[in-house]
Amino acid sequence: NNKITIAIDGYSSTGKSTVAKQLAKHLGYIYVDSGAMYRAVTYYAMIHGFIDEHQFNKEALISNLQSIEISFKFNSDLGFAEVYLNGENVEKQIRTLEVSGFVSKVATLPEVRSQLVKQQQKMGKDKGVVMDGRDIGTVVFPDAELKLFMSASAETRAKRRYKELIDRGDDVRYEDVLRNVEERDYMDTNRAESPLLKAPDAINFDNSNMTRDKQFEAILKLVDKVI
Ligand code: C5P
Repeated sequence: NNKITIAIDGYSSTGKSTVAKQLAKHLGYIYVDSGAMYRAVTYYAMIHGFIDEHQFNKEALISNLQSIEISFKFNSDLGFAEVYLNGENVEKQIRTLEVSGFVSKVATLPEVRSQLVKQQQKMGKDKGVVMDGRDIGTVVFPDAELKLFMSASAETRAKRRYKELIDRGDDVRYEDVLRNVEERDYMDTNRAESPLLKAPDAINFDNSNMTRDKQFEAILKLVDKVI
């Protein structure tokens, strides 16, 4: 009964976290949402005035990185772990379109990445982990036994994200959500440090035309081949 590491990477809103949560629950593994960590750092930068629509004070953020403590706590009602910034539950604060608008800029900083990657590697050191993000199969766990690379059409993805935000009660416009998804994909793919990239040994998975159940069924087959 050897535990493995599962790395799920891909574009924004491709359903990575849905699959990752389903898999973690099914296998009794830990689920780590690495994007939530980049979002928490971004939220920290926002509330400290280091980033807004006019400026990004990278130096200030970098010199304060030591004051940022991110942790996860399992919420048994929700069935997954929520993210905490310096002891405060920020799960809701980090999912806004505003944070989504700045996060890919923050994620370009090598200093931010190396701090978060170290923490992610620690969380996965005993295996039995499903982690989703952009660089999990390439940088964080290059030796992961199973790597998935998820994609779906930009429209499908924007529709999903839009519905999520509306369901939460956020007042957003579809066009803004679509533009954010496209901008983040562009920045994530074109940054110098750990760009979004399919690992050579990752399995491509396009779910544009798949229900959640069908998708999970297909992915379980892939898992069964490895475990
Ligand atoms: O996964 P999610 O969409 O919440 O991630 C938010 C952003 O965090 C991404 O658009 C990307 O800029 C950054 N990110 C990253 N590396 C990861 C996870 C997320 O650069 N492993």
